[in-house]
Amino acid sequence: MEKLKINGSRLMDRIMSLAEISPIEGGGNCRLALTDDDKAGRDLVVTWMKDLGMEISIDVVGNIVGTWNVGSGSPVMTGSHIDTVRTGGKYDGNYGVLAGLEVIETLQQSGIKPSRPLAVGVFTDEEGARFAPDMLGSLVYVGGLSVEDALDIRAIDGPRLGDELNRIGYAGNTPCPQQAPHAFVELHIEQGPLLEANGIRIGAVTGVQGISWQELTITGQSNHAGTTPMRLRKDPVVVAAEVAKFLHDLAIRYGGDQVCTVGKIDVHPNLINVVAAKVTMTLDVRNTDESLLQAAEKEIASFIVEIANREKVITSVRTLARFEPVKFDQRVIDIVHHHATDQGNSVQMMPSGAGHDAQMLARVCPTAMIFTQSKDGLSHNPAEYTSPEDLEAGANILLHTMLTLTSTEFA
Ligand code: GLV
Ligand code: MN
Ligand code: MN
Repeated sequence: MEKLKINGSRLMDRIMSLAEISPIEGGGNCRLALTDDDKAGRDLVVTWMKDLGMEISIDVVGNIVGTWNVGSGSPVMTGSHIDTVRTGGKYDGNYGVLAGLEVIETLQQSGIKPSRPLAVGVFTDEEGARFAPDMLGSLVYVGGLSVEDALDIRAIDGPRLGDELNRIGYAGNTPCPQQAPHAFVELHIEQGPLLEANGIRIGAVTGVQGISWQELTITGQSNHAGTTPMRLRKDPVVVAAEVAKFLHDLAIRYGGDQVCTVGKIDVHPNLINVVAAKVTMTLDVRNTDESLLQAAEKEIASFIVEIANREKVITSVRTLARFEPVKFDQRVIDIVHHHATDQGNSVQMMPSGAGHDAQMLARVCPTAMIFTQSKDGLSHNPAEYTSPEDLEAGANILLHTMLTLTSTEFA
C-alpha cells in the first residue's frame, strides 16, 4: 500500500503566508519575540490551529500548544518557534511549527485516528535574541526556569517580558511546568553546511551542543581622541577587540566542534572623536563536549582579567545562558532514521550546532529531531533557503515518526 504523504504545496502556502508577516529585504523576516510582529504571526498560527479543530492552550509565558484531541493518554508532541532573529529567514522554527499543522491536517483528511492526541507547540522566545536566555519558553515549560524569573527578564530594548506578554495578549493561564508529553520530535532546517556538503538529504539529530552566553561590560575612561596620549588611555574598544580576537583564536586552536562568536557590541558614546567610555559585548561559546566548553570558559575568563589589567579598564561579566550538551533518546533517533531511510532518503546522524526547543523537552520525555538541508549553510540570514522538495521530505518523516511514537511505549 502507498504510504500516506503530506501535502507539500499546502505546507509551502502556510510557510509563505507566515513569511508575509514582517518581511525584510533579502527575503527573510524580523519577528523578534513578543513584538507586534510576533503577535501577528501567533494570531495567524492560532487561526490555522482553530481551523483544524485543535484545542488551544496558552501558558503563563505565552507558549501556545494546539492539541488534536484524538485517542487517549499524553500527547505525542512536535513544534518549534515562530520568533526570529532581527535578520532571520523564513524557515528557522516556522518550518517545524507549520509542518506539525500539516501532519495533523493530513491525518485528519486520511481518516486515520492516532491512538494518542497530537500536539503542536509554538514556544516563546526560542531565539533569545530579544530576551536571554534562548529557548526561554520551552525551558519554563519543562520547569528549568521559574515563571517569576522568566517574567522579570528585560528585553535588549528595555521592557519586561511579563509586560510584553500582557501587551500582545499572550499572557495565558495554563501553569508551567506543564505535564510531559509522551514523546517530542522537532523538525528543523539544519542551519549549517554539513548535509549539503555531504550530499545527504536528512539529518537524524543525535543531540545539541552545549552553549554558554555571557555579556561582558568593559568600562574605561572617555576622553578626547586628539589630545589624549596613547599611554594615558583606558580604552574599552581595544579590550573588546582583543577579546573578540582571543575567542576567534581559541575556537581555531581547540578545533573539533568548538565555536565562538562575538555577535553584538555596543559602544558608548559611539562617536568618531571620543575615546569610548564603555563597551558591552556578547560572548557566544559552544561545544558538544562539556569539559572542553568549561575549559574554554575558564581560558576566556583569565584572558579578560589579564587584558583588563594591561589596559587599565574595569570589566564585569553576566551569564545570559548556560546549557550543557544534550543527548537525544536513541529510541526516537532510531525511529527517525528508520522512516527517513524507508522513504528513500539518504540520512546522516549528526549533532545540532544550533540551540532548539527539543533540547529542553529532552529533559522530560523521549525526544529527537529531524534536519533538512540549508542551502550554502546559511541561517540567521534572510537568504536562508531549503528547497520545497526537501521541506516536503522532512515533513513526511515527521508524519510517520509521530504516528510511530503514538504506538511506542517507553519503559
Ligand atoms: C538559536 O537559534 C541559537 O542556537 O542561537
Ligand atoms: Mn530555530
Ligand atoms: Mn534561530
